[in-house]
Amino acid sequence: MLLEVRDLHVEFHTREGVAKAVNGVNYSVAEGETLAVLGESGSGKSVTAQAVMGILDMPPGKIAGGEILFKGQDLLKLKAEERRKIRGQEMAMIFQDALSSLNPVLTVGEQLGEMYVVHRGMSRKDARAKAVELMDRVRIPAAKERVGQYPHQFSGGMRQRIMIAMALALEPSLIIADEPTTALDVTVQAQVMDLLAELQRELNMGLILITHDLGVVADVADKIAVMYAGRIVETAPVHEIYKAPAHPYTRGLLQSIPRLDQKGRELYAIKGLPPNLLRIPPGCAFNPRCPMARDVCRTDVPPLYEVDEQRRSACHFWKETLDGR
Ligand SMILES: Nc1ncnc2c1ncn2[C@@H]1O[C@H](COP(=O)(O)OP(=O)(O)O)[C@@H](O)[C@H]1O
Ligand code: SF4
Ligand SMILES: [Mg+2]
Repeated sequence: MLLEVRDLHVEFHTREGVAKAVNGVNYSVAEGETLAVLGESGSGKSVTAQAVMGILDMPPGKIAGGEILFKGQDLLKLKAEERRKIRGQEMAMIFQDALSSLNPVLTVGEQLGEMYVVHRGMSRKDARAKAVELMDRVRIPAAKERVGQYPHQFSGGMRQRIMIAMALALEPSLIIADEPTTALDVTVQAQVMDLLAELQRELNMGLILITHDLGVVADVADKIAVMYAGRIVETAPVHEIYKAPAHPYTRGLLQSIPRLDQKGRELYAIKGLPPNLLRIPPGCAFNPRCPMARDVCRTDVPPLYEVDEQRRSACHFWKETLDGR
């Protein structure tokens, strides 16, 4: 397995108390596989990814337990320098906001080329040629002419392509894309997502795709992990989850996707808000919002039940949910 996160716990020590942002997350990504991580804002998707990348804010963040196995090696046990090496060459991250991730005073060619100068010891001239090659690869038109331009001279979609190019530069085996298309308009979103999926297949990389939008991952992900209040509440192969969710929260997310064939119908929204992580409700964290909640849900934390070999659901009533009751 390329990446295996095991029983990961991350806390934030704040003035108000300890926020349990990640509470025992397990997920895995194989080479050439795409895992979509889904959930409302504040569910711990980014914090989990930052822990994998080794870029958590510590303090206030603290890894309170678990393992992060990358090619069989626990990253949490590595020395800072070994960790940095893996982060630089073997993993890369794409963020939502390219404008704040790119350096405004360097041309895109300089920034892309820098990867090769620093990590591969290339000359500036060769690095520039590589930068043009990368820009071609992410289909930025007129790459040769535009390699000397600054980030602000590109459109949002093109900037996101530059971010993808930066991530691909050293041909990492794992890419984490955190809401890579959220800031783009809908048509551009689909183009960037398709490009990412295509390059991922070509290079046989593992891809973790973080999003709050179930609508954008259906065509590109192999499997989905749904997060709620710092836990995975359902994992399944992508098509199965769309056919029949085994967790009421997933069902709610699915029902809140706008559908073209149902124009004009009022969009469903899950009632209420995600819990405050300083005070996660006892029992199932979703119980105050769940239309199926019963007494046991308010007292007993549901374990991740095995639905079948490839599916898990943290709901006491997963069977009924799966049957559509
Ligand atoms: N730098 C930080 N300081 C304190 N708390 C944080 C910090 N970053 C994240 N958190 C906590 O972790 C929770 C999960 O955040 P995050 O993983 O960013 O959610 P999302 O699923 O939207 O990516 C937040 O709701 C917040 O309580
Ligand atoms: S365990 Fe209970 S509250 Fe939680 S999702 Fe299932 S039915 Fe709803
Ligand atoms: Mg996030």
